[in-house]
Amino acid sequence: MATTIIDGKEVASRVREGLKQEIAALTQAGHTPGLAVVLVGEDPASQVYVNSKVKACEELGIYSQKWALPAETSQEELVELIHRLNADPRIHGILVQSPPPPHIDEEAVILNIDPRKDVDGFHPVNVAKLVLEDATGFVPCTPLGCMELLKAYNIPTQGKHAVVIGRSMIVGKPMAHLLVSKQANATVTIAHSRTADLPALCRTADIIVAAVGRPEMVKADFVKPGAVVLDVGINRVEDATRPRGYRIVGDVDYAGVSEKCSAITPVPGGVGPMTIAMLMANTVKACRQLTQGA
Ligand code: GUN
Repeated sequence: MATTIIDGKEVASRVREGLKQEIAALTQAGHTPGLAVVLVGEDPASQVYVNSKVKACEELGIYSQKWALPAETSQEELVELIHRLNADPRIHGILVQSPPPPHIDEEAVILNIDPRKDVDGFHPVNVAKLVLEDATGFVPCTPLGCMELLKAYNIPTQGKHAVVIGRSMIVGKPMAHLLVSKQANATVTIAHSRTADLPALCRTADIIVAAVGRPEMVKADFVKPGAVVLDVGINRVEDATRPRGYRIVGDVDYAGVSEKCSAITPVPGGVGPMTIAMLMANTVKACRQLTQGA
């Protein structure tokens, strides 16, 4: 059986196209959706992500503000900015790029974001809404993007065994909740660094979601023939043959695994593009909920 290469770029572009009409309607009604992206420090990868987010806003007609703050910014200064953005009627979504510098207490910062503007879905109110399956909440963009890919490719989840590798608050845990929800009805196992015999566990999976941040960790012998593999990893590995001196690989050994599975997301071009598309979708949803009460 041929392996389906899940084209995240194509699905993301369809999601973005679908948003344009609602953005135009909101703008007509005097409520242009607005996103504030806050970056503290000079981490090069974070700078790339933040710039892509701002560019995506421009392409869709979403108003955006980029706040690039110096690495020495204090917790108090950052929280003060968040409070100003909470009060700014032009802004419907607020995102603080993770990870911040070590002196910043990220959880404390997130607690200061108005949950109605928390388009990352990191605030405890939104974490609770995910668990409660309350559709007014915001779900983190990467797992939301993974669910959209499964839907776009008509990949069934009901009754399937999904193994999510990784227990982060950004990907692993929300992903597990989405898969086990009444929308998806999968049976879910969350695996992590202390899981015993991960390869054997993964071989029982119909769906594997790899979100560990370890380059090419998931090998062909982790995969049951015909399983679906979503690779959330974005890892830089040294490669002297590339002009930049590195290349980007996922958490999955693509060459080996793609021979065995029925569908797989490549890196790049799989889950990555979906993250930004879902951020745009969450920003439009925040605008709609804040201005239309729906
Ligand atoms: N860093 C890596 N992924 C994300 C994300 O989805 N949101 C934020 N704020 N930071 C990130």
